[in-house]
Amino acid sequence: MSVLKEPILKLSQSKELRGFVSTNPLGRKAAHRFVAGETQTDAINAAREANKIGLKVSLDHLGENTNSEAEARHATEEYLELLDKIAEAGVDANVSVKLTALGQDINRGLCIENICKILERADQHNHTFVRLDMEGSSYTENTLDIFRQLWREGHHNTGVVLQSYLYRTATDVQEMVDTGVRVRLCKGAYLEPPTVAFAEKTEVDENYVRCMENLMLHGNYPGLATHDEELINHAISYAKENNIGPERFEFQMLYGVRRDLQKKLVAEGYNVRAYVPYGSEWYPYLMRRMAERPANFFFIASQFFKG
Ligand code: FDA
Repeated sequence: MSVLKEPILKLSQSKELRGFVSTNPLGRKAAHRFVAGETQTDAINAAREANKIGLKVSLDHLGENTNSEAEARHATEEYLELLDKIAEAGVDANVSVKLTALGQDINRGLCIENICKILERADQHNHTFVRLDMEGSSYTENTLDIFRQLWREGHHNTGVVLQSYLYRTATDVQEMVDTGVRVRLCKGAYLEPPTVAFAEKTEVDENYVRCMENLMLHGNYPGLATHDEELINHAISYAKENNIGPERFEFQMLYGVRRDLQKKLVAEGYNVRAYVPYGSEWYPYLMRRMAERPANFFFIASQFFKG
């Protein structure tokens, strides 16, 4: 792990800095690189632009760790409207949802009620897919357990995210392969202790390869979410060696990151999905993007000092 990753991720939890950055015009400008805008219209416009260059999209309404029932219901309403707008606009987009936005910290019943409403609305709109994003490791088991309940109750237009930095992930991948669940595989973006997660990049990458190969060979349309060119090249060679057609998986990347690579993969005939976040609660999301690439952090911090 880069020495700066940990302090930046710690700052992502600071309420004081959040208040300062979120209300500062320079903070807004910085967020603009990674966030499509604050409104649903911004999100739909970004999806339309991405579709024009051959990218599929997953729209994410920013917001996490709601701590009142009213906020959780409000976040749910936002997704219901967003699903209506996606259908109305006819854009090629699904949605990504964080369960903590829907009340996971408040109570399970509320969270399940909210996610079910979203899954039902998505299903009415041409079986739109709803991805359950994965948050810090204290939520992993609970998120997967809620997912299992949804799946058992017949909600099959949903899938999970698994993070290769966690020791448990190879086992979780196997469970999802056996069940036929669509998995997004990423490295993981949160601050995790060595009791649950690999600390070294090489270990995280090796585990990514192990999980990715299993998903590509046996899984249901995996989403390979990474900007790491070595891993992407490995996926491409592995697919060729094992006769896995490009229709059997997709690459996924974040809005504003490695657009060149996104376009190149589309031109080569691969499915590529851009994860497009929008909304006003962008501070923790922005800080996670800074932690992944401290050069971004220095650039933006220098703008603050100049300003
Ligand atoms: P890595 O961090 O090793 O970066 C590889 C290269 O990519 C870098 O050298 C750099 O060139 C480029 N790069 C990466 N991040 C960059 C950035 N912010 N700015 C500029 N360049 C950058 N995590 C999670 O815990 N739960 C989740 O649900 C999701 N969901 C998700 C969806 C999608 C579509 C993506 C792409 C990622 C996520 N993530 C996530 C985030 C993920 O876990 C991880 O933190 C980031 O993708 C960065 O890891 P990479 O795989 O890109 O590799």
